[in-house]
Amino acid sequence: MANPDNQSMENIITVDGPSGSGKGTISLLLSQKLGWHLLDSGAIYRVVGQAVLINGVSLDDHGAVAETAENMNISFRINSETNEIDPYLDNENLSKKIRTDEAGQLASHVARIPAVRAALLTKQRSFASEPGLIADGRDMGTVVFPAAKVKIFLTASAECRAKRRYEQLKNKGVSANIRALLDSIKLRDERDKNRAIAPLVPAQDALVIDSSDMSIEAVLDQILDYSSNRLKL
Ligand code: C5P
Repeated sequence: MANPDNQSMENIITVDGPSGSGKGTISLLLSQKLGWHLLDSGAIYRVVGQAVLINGVSLDDHGAVAETAENMNISFRINSETNEIDPYLDNENLSKKIRTDEAGQLASHVARIPAVRAALLTKQRSFASEPGLIADGRDMGTVVFPAAKVKIFLTASAECRAKRRYEQLKNKGVSANIRALLDSIKLRDERDKNRAIAPLVPAQDALVIDSSDMSIEAVLDQILDYSSNRLKL
């Protein structure tokens, strides 16, 4: 059984990295392959952004934004058609709404507020349960699960990430402009890397993988290989 803060669970793989590095795809595939739970922490920050919008909370009122994060009724449900995990706020499926670029920008604004990050810590740690967890985000290996035995930092050039995001949005039927996406990715990188709390940096003991010129399969194989030496897979 996991201990109360789930910090001593063996089977945790953290996958951190910037937007569009492929960590969402890789994390989903890892969780399916290993039969482990999946924490998409970015989706949680995105849902906080939407909850703030819905409730008309000002981004400048950090206390109210944190309160919204603390009290929102968020849940994740498996979508039997797509096999993906859809986030819900109350009973509304937000999977489409939170994937827009604006929703990503809004998420990175609320994510800069220390009280919001504190409010989400317990929620995120509660995802750690047997048989294991794949934790996808920015600070999974540095802050949320610092004791994880396998930490991956997945990155790729900004141009490559913009192109991937473009394809991803197109496939989801969301219209996008590649130049605007590149600017937006650079802006979000800046904000995520330079914020005072839990900035986007690889954990000291993370394996850094640059996926710019790698296929999804090659990245997946490298992570599984690396993990099998450190965990009982
Ligand atoms: O991963 P995703 O692009 O969905 O994340 C949206 C935003 O949420 C990021 O740009 C970042 O500002 C924030 N985030 C974070 N910490 C995490 C996950 C996401 O600050 N663990």
